[in-house]
Amino acid sequence: MGGKKVCIVGSGNWGSAIAKIAGSNAARLSSFESQVNMWVLQEEVGGRRLTDIINTEHENVKYLPGHKLPPNVVAEPDLLKACAGADVLLFVVPHQFIGKVCDQLKGHVKKEAVGMSLIKGVDEGPDGLRLISDIIHEKLGIEMSVLMGANIANEVAEEKFCETTIGCKNMKHGQMLKELMQTPNFRVSVVQDADTVEICGALKNVVAVGAGFCDGLGYGDNTKAAVIRLGLMEMIGFSKLFCKGPVTPATFLESCGVADLITTCYGGRNRKVAEAFAKTGKSIEQLEKEMLNGQKLQGPQTSAELHRILKSKNVVEKFPLFTAVYRICYEGKPVTDFITCLQSHPEHM
Ligand SMILES: NC(=O)c1ccc[n+]([C@@H]2O[C@H](COP(=O)([O-])OP(=O)(O)OC[C@H]3O[C@@H](n4cnc5c(N)ncnc54)[C@H](O)[C@@H]3O)[C@@H](O)[C@H]2O)c1
Repeated sequence: MGGKKVCIVGSGNWGSAIAKIAGSNAARLSSFESQVNMWVLQEEVGGRRLTDIINTEHENVKYLPGHKLPPNVVAEPDLLKACAGADVLLFVVPHQFIGKVCDQLKGHVKKEAVGMSLIKGVDEGPDGLRLISDIIHEKLGIEMSVLMGANIANEVAEEKFCETTIGCKNMKHGQMLKELMQTPNFRVSVVQDADTVEICGALKNVVAVGAGFCDGLGYGDNTKAAVIRLGLMEMIGFSKLFCKGPVTPATFLESCGVADLITTCYGGRNRKVAEAFAKTGKSIEQLEKEMLNGQKLQGPQTSAELHRILKSKNVVEKFPLFTAVYRICYEGKPVTDFITCLQSHPEHM
């Protein structure tokens, strides 16, 4: 009795993988209430409601097929009902939807609830960069942490070993969130530099688009390694310019930094779609529809958000890789030009 009530806000590929972990830990640990609600945007799959399928077959057949969810994870299509009374809220919707989700939730979550964002992306505000966790904090007034890492959802669901990073300014909350999320095969480290952790999660998707272009153009592993290194330098440079607090270089060595960058540049959906873009010449929107079965791409949209921020601060030329990704995705620059941004990249930033 008296355990913390957990709600997962989102039920896509990552939301469902995380539901497996948080659900089985909540069932096992007395510090959490056993039932974990998961908000599911209702849709029909094969003539049935997705929530009904999840609650009877314990499987999200659309976004995480082939993996059973623990039976204490309950799919709920009503956002306010799903979050009612929650002490811990895990936000895991694609970043373009978070503003609307929070607007609906405003005034309906406990003031002392603890939130954690697993969303990779950034937004832009009047003063430049806006972190997704800041948007949630501003709209709902709750304390926020983030979880980011080299975590491709399907591999996490298969329980293959990986690491992840929780960025949490309040270490007491950090320990509680670690307890909820850690398993022997999903190893959590907690750091206080939460803004850098979150920024890494957003920026690596842009670098992955560049890695996909290289693959599509037929370049090899050496070129991809250069994309990863130059991309990492731009990630560090961007964090130093735009993070409110101090940026700890060691954070880039955590799972959220270099490890996530590597997996995303080899395995993720942003790389895959960018490769197809370079090979077929089809538009990003068309490929997203054709290749991702309702899942959302993050990299191209994040590159557009970054570009507006860089332009407003007059530093576009300091970020040639981010800029090339944006211009190729949105301004019709030929993808074959991508390599020139690497050739002319400053050696040191
Ligand atoms: N999939 C991964 O491997 C992975 C790993 C780590 C982090 N992430 C991050 O997690 C976040 C969520 O990604 P995902 O893979 O779970 O989602 P996804 O790409 O599978 O997205 C589909 C989800 O979006 C929902 N959706 C569609 N339209 C919506 C709307 N209008 N409002 C609200 N929700 C809507 C769908 O119901 C579905 O649950 C992203 O920021 C992503 O970068 C993903």
